[in-house]
Amino acid sequence: MSVDIRFQPDDRNGLVAEGTYLLDAAKRLGVSLPVECGGRGECDTCAVIVEEGATLLSSLTEAERVRLSPERLAAGERLTCQAKVERGGEVVLRPVPQTERAETSAETAKDLRKDFRDLPLQRKVTTLVELEAVTLFQTLDAIINVPFAIGGKVLDLMAVWGRTLDKRDHELNRPAEHRQQVEGSETSEPNG
Ligand code: FES
Repeated sequence: MSVDIRFQPDDRNGLVAEGTYLLDAAKRLGVSLPVECGGRGECDTCAVIVEEGATLLSSLTEAERVRLSPERLAAGERLTCQAKVERGGEVVLRPVPQTERAETSAETAKDLRKDFRDLPLQRKVTTLVELEAVTLFQTLDAIINVPFAIGGKVLDLMAVWGRTLDKRDHELNRPAEHRQQVEGSETSEPNG
């Protein structure tokens, strides 16, 4: 059975299959949500407020209880990488405003860039010199500790290893509660 998902404030909506995670639904509908931890339930950047259809979603996961305060849970917030649609009907969601959730690295970097732009010239120069010294020290440290030939091989191995981990992570990112469900029942495996 299909579920009608609607994202506010743009009123983007579409049908998704039961078992679809809200994060996957958002991607399919072109709604961009920050996923700072990569969908592992370790941040709160993918949070949404469920305005309608809360009873159509899976139960709260442990990660949601840890990441969202009782007040936020009471306000109907869910983590889209943790919650999936389990019953047919209409679900209306609204992303949690940036001011009410943790900042992503990109947002922090943007703030830092702005802070830097606002510094007086003298302070800018001092900051740059300090940063340059730190970078130089780290680079020298890396060069001294990793011989060139070994460094290249290590990088190759890391690339292969990274690709394998990427694949495995996709499955492991699922909430533990849902992984157990999948092990116990082939039919409950989520789409997406
Ligand atoms: S992306 Fe971090 S909790 Fe969902």
